[in-house]
Amino acid sequence: MILVTGGAGFIGANFVLDWLAQSDEPVINLDVLTYAGNLDTLRTLDGDPRHVFVQGDIGDAALVTTLLTQYQPRAVVNFAAESHVDRSIHGPGDFIQTNIVGTFHLLEAVRAYWSALEGEARQQFRMLHVSTDEVYGSLSRDEPAFTETHRYEPNSPYSASKAASDHLVRAYHHTYGLPVLTTNCSNNYGPYHFPEKLIPLMIVNALAGKSLPVYGDGQQIRDWLYVKDHCSAIRRVLEAGALGEVYNVGGWNEKPNIEIVHTICALLDELRPRADGTPYSAQITYVTDRPGHDRRYAIDASKLQRELGWKPAETFDTGIRKTVQWYLDHQDWVANVQSGAYQHWVAKNYSERTA
Ligand code: NAD
Ligand code: TYD
Repeated sequence: MILVTGGAGFIGANFVLDWLAQSDEPVINLDVLTYAGNLDTLRTLDGDPRHVFVQGDIGDAALVTTLLTQYQPRAVVNFAAESHVDRSIHGPGDFIQTNIVGTFHLLEAVRAYWSALEGEARQQFRMLHVSTDEVYGSLSRDEPAFTETHRYEPNSPYSASKAASDHLVRAYHHTYGLPVLTTNCSNNYGPYHFPEKLIPLMIVNALAGKSLPVYGDGQQIRDWLYVKDHCSAIRRVLEAGALGEVYNVGGWNEKPNIEIVHTICALLDELRPRADGTPYSAQITYVTDRPGHDRRYAIDASKLQRELGWKPAETFDTGIRKTVQWYLDHQDWVANVQSGAYQHWVAKNYSERTA
């Protein structure tokens, strides 16, 4: 049995689905169901006794303690977080609360549980904390990719809150000996991605005939990894990672945002041409940049490859094609997440950005 937190979000849900597709080891899934949590994503697990969903907060130490005591998991994988940079700019409070204070309460509950374990169970227990490359700050064009020893230089309230959580996890290992592992991954994309992030937003807007809002000059670079490759990296680190170690996860896929948007447009031109035959790229609009926008992220994942033998299965070309096709095939899922709260966010974020 493992305890997954945030398992109704984009990466957490992909992780739970992949885990149960490959193993019969049950999962307790603790998720408070913010706007980003979506049980629709987990619908294929309805009635599956291997999946126990609990709606609750990682910051609720009493609840976490009850779950740990009741289910005696051999590992905790922490995905739960506020994750959207633009939202952290509009309102950092929730990021501080969940990513920092919530992680602290989770660590306290896990520490108490682990301290009381004995023998084999204590030896085998692991807590894996899922983090981001954004904690390392921004690179210029010529700098080498982030390694695990790169200085922490977070620039947004989101990345600062994730950096703080990483430091807490590190300290719990150093001070109390808690058997932790940390992964810092680059930008993910793939199925079930909430359509407020770049790739799903562009696909969904393109199909709806809406503008494709590119921030600033569109030359910011992100390093993209297909979500299932992130999940396989987490499984591998959980299985074989050295205690207290940090592993960067990435797919060597650096791309400027504008290139991503053009790739999506070209795939849609091929797979679902516009009725009037003109290209989707006609919908691209340059809008006001994000404040403090990081220019470039790039991950050096060679430690994970060298020490644990992990490699991504998808290239960007194969992964983005699968992703665009997935959104074409799952427009019902998209329609369901485009709730009132989602509409409110779109109005707030994009009304301030002049084209
Ligand atoms: P997401 O926003 O899609 O999902 C987050 C999930 O956590 C949601 O289901 C939400 O309901 C849940 N949650 C939020 N606050 C909670 C709380 N207090 N208690 C319990 N559950 C809570 O995020 P994601 O993109 O799936 O990211 C998952 C993790 O991976 C995050 O820690 C994020 O920092 C990290 N990460 C994301 C990316 C990326 O590209 N998306 C890249 C690297 C690392
Ligand atoms: P995002 O998906 O929010 O991830 P992150 O900021 O965590 O990397 O954004 C990816 C990149 O796309 C980032 O440089 C901001 C840019 N972007 C746009 O140009 N337009 C948009 O509407 C969004 C949501 C993002």
